[in-house]
Amino acid sequence: MTATLIRGRTLSFRRVPASLDDADAYSYETDGALLVENGLIVASGTYEAVKTQAPDGVPEIDHRPHLILPGFIDTHLHFPQMQVIGSYAANLLEWLNTYTFPEECRFVETAHAQRIATHFFDEMVRHGTTTAVAYCSVHKTSADAFFAEALARNMRMVAGKVMMDRNAPQGLLDTPQMGYDETRAVIEQWHGKGRNHVAITPRFAITSTPEQMSAAGALVREFPDLHVQTHLSENRDEIDFTCSLYPDAADYTDVYARYGLLGPKTLFGHCIHLSEREMDAMSETGSIAVHCPTSNLFLGSGLFPLKKLVNREKPVRVSVATDIGGGSSYSMLRTMDEAYKIQQLQGERLNPFESFYYMTLGNAEALSLTDKIGTLEPGTDADFIVLNMAATPAMALKAEVVTSLADELFLLQTMGDDRAIAETYVAGMAAKAELTG
Ligand code: GUN
Ligand code: ZN
Repeated sequence: MTATLIRGRTLSFRRVPASLDDADAYSYETDGALLVENGLIVASGTYEAVKTQAPDGVPEIDHRPHLILPGFIDTHLHFPQMQVIGSYAANLLEWLNTYTFPEECRFVETAHAQRIATHFFDEMVRHGTTTAVAYCSVHKTSADAFFAEALARNMRMVAGKVMMDRNAPQGLLDTPQMGYDETRAVIEQWHGKGRNHVAITPRFAITSTPEQMSAAGALVREFPDLHVQTHLSENRDEIDFTCSLYPDAADYTDVYARYGLLGPKTLFGHCIHLSEREMDAMSETGSIAVHCPTSNLFLGSGLFPLKKLVNREKPVRVSVATDIGGGSSYSMLRTMDEAYKIQQLQGERLNPFESFYYMTLGNAEALSLTDKIGTLEPGTDADFIVLNMAATPAMALKAEVVTSLADELFLLQTMGDDRAIAETYVAGMAAKAELTG
């Protein structure tokens, strides 16, 4: 692939911003550029400096006055739940049993899984999400459809075949052996193929027998570099049910600890109602609490204590995610708007720089993938997005009075959605322009 020079205002984080004034936490160029070649960023900085490194006659794409950021990363969502979004239920367990489990049964059909996979990746690109961490269904065919589509689009994705062997309809159950064998088969077939990463995915303790949890633990020991994903402490009834199923465990987190599932590659969806002991266990093991704001509000699950988790003496690593289809938007901008409000309700502030850090570098850190994604650093994947703060008439009107980068980010977060994503580059290629419909 020949080199391309992409010009615009560029923003990339170095670390979590300590305050609104912490300008050392990020690099911002008002006339910036990226030099892209063979799917990678080979140079970044001011337009002037990058231009001198580019070959003569390099093609240029000028996105000024828009803002160029690393692609958004979504650290928890469910690929088979695209048609579950907006299902009317009182709480998590009713929502799972009434809508979600029946819908996921349909993914035994390859044609259905392939059709939804096409829509899934279209929505990721439309919303500026270049990496997502997804649950497939229990059926291996759903993981095959997901990874085949990711490979065809050359996107960096993390996903897993769900392991679940109880407390769900027959059509959604594997067995401890089947869950183990099929996860191994998915790893062998897809891990490292293109930009695919396979995650070990026991759905949650309610839908796995102790035998299956042991099988998941065995997989983690055999494949220690793989990501692990599951759900933890989302809803009070869920917690009570879990503790009744595992009476020997000290608490919900201890259920996973007993099977060796805590660790720096493990993403625990939700973590809303953790005790201090559980937070300590998460902290000591480097486990990640995944905040899913639109889902937590939609299902009435509770208010995620983000500031408490990250500021405590033993901090807990946190990432952010949509949790489609419990979540109600594919947009990481909409997600962080709700995250902001959840902190407001708890008397805490989430400043716009922190929000944009979480969507990019913060989520890459949570995935231990900062060498590949989450920044505009040379040597990393050329997955980046172009944001337009005046994407709708109402946004354009507000943009007239925006005078700082912080204001611009806050406008994008408060009013933005897929319309604010002017372009999504995947491995250096403009992917949003390619979408049909
Ligand atoms: N807990 C177990 N499965 C799920 C799921 O699909 N969505 C949510 N929000 N929580 C879960
Ligand atoms: Zn989930």
